[in-house]
Amino acid sequence: MNVLLAGGAGYIGSHTCVELLEAGHSVVVADNYSNSCPEALRRVEEITGKTVRAYEADVCDSEAVERIFSENDIDAVIHFAGLKAVGESVEKPLLYYRNNIDSTLTLLEAMARHNVTRFIFSSSATVYGTPKEVPLVETMPTGTPTNPYGRTKLMMEQILTDTQYANPAMSIVILRYFNPIGAHKSGRIGEDPNGIPNNLMPFITQVAAGRLERLGIFGDDYPTRDGTGVRDYIHVVDLAKGHVKAIEYSEAHTGTEIINLGTGTGYSVLEIVKTFERVNHLTIPYVIKPRRAGDIAECFANAEKAEKVLGWKAELGLEEMCFDSWNWQSHNVNGYK
Ligand code: NAD
Ligand code: UFG
Repeated sequence: MNVLLAGGAGYIGSHTCVELLEAGHSVVVADNYSNSCPEALRRVEEITGKTVRAYEADVCDSEAVERIFSENDIDAVIHFAGLKAVGESVEKPLLYYRNNIDSTLTLLEAMARHNVTRFIFSSSATVYGTPKEVPLVETMPTGTPTNPYGRTKLMMEQILTDTQYANPAMSIVILRYFNPIGAHKSGRIGEDPNGIPNNLMPFITQVAAGRLERLGIFGDDYPTRDGTGVRDYIHVVDLAKGHVKAIEYSEAHTGTEIINLGTGTGYSVLEIVKTFERVNHLTIPYVIKPRRAGDIAECFANAEKAEKVLGWKAELGLEEMCFDSWNWQSHNVNGYK
């Protein structure tokens, strides 16, 4: 299959390129490198020994997207091309609504013109809002995301459901990711955030690398087993493999499917820190800080639907996630730079 990955040079996209290529598929990447760089794709080629056809393009630009569809026989689209910094989305809501929604509409319009019917979308557990109970099941009502980023995801889930309803030949798979961490075992590709990381694992690895002094743990008074926030961390390679399964599933099915991609197990911030220290023989200095606005106490998936529908299940454990995150960061102290 020939798969277009919008945002395919980013953290999850680059790992998905590797897994698709290794499963025998071809990939075309469209990325404007607003949060990534061409070096990531060069390394995907190095890992796989295969070629990535890459376009430097903004997928909100319908002429650029039209050209990509005209020059390639695309079978399916995976849409990773979103802005994802929660805090920035509060400060720049229009940027987030424009980029995240326009990119989706532009891709769907090009697909309609070229009769491409298969679309895989990067959604997020954030659409559940503040969970009333965990684990989170896909049939639970979505909640109220606490920020514009989360609201773009919820809006796009609705746009995609409406689009498929109007064209029953379409197959749309909405993947609700939990918390991806880790990196490819080669240590050649990984997460490389701009500026000071918002997310826990890149913050920890940058402390370990000496780029940051100490981790701030946002709150130790949550109603969790040790008072720190609990999340469902999933190895990015497992997550990437979930996309290969979703692409293959979409070949034989029509409709809209919403599927959690998580492990089904939650770990606290302190458990992550302790596991990271143990497997990498390091010490992570930390200080307890006040809760971060918008954070929830606990969030983890019921992962049964992915197994039933896609035949996919996360295989890598927390120790591998912590080991591979550090393997990437320690060999690339300044990321791709
Ligand atoms: P990322 O920033 O590493 O990757 C996104 C890629 O899209 C980047 O390469 C960026 O340059 C590109 N991009 C953004 N806007 C674009 C545009 N208009 N045109 C072309 N390229 C554009 O992020 P990621 O962690 O790989 O996330 C991928 C997707 O998964 C995003 O939609 C994100 O919202 C979603 N998601 C991520 C997480 C997470 O914790 N990483 C969790 C849930 C959902
Ligand atoms: N945390 C800290 N210190 C930090 C960073 C995070 O203590 O410096 C804590 C948070 O309070 C939380 C946990 O670590 O308890 C995980 O935080 P992340 O920022 O890594 O992840 P979130 O669960 O807050 O959010 C992530 C993505 C969102 C996505 C959401 C659900 O960043 O985009 O998962 O998929 F919406």
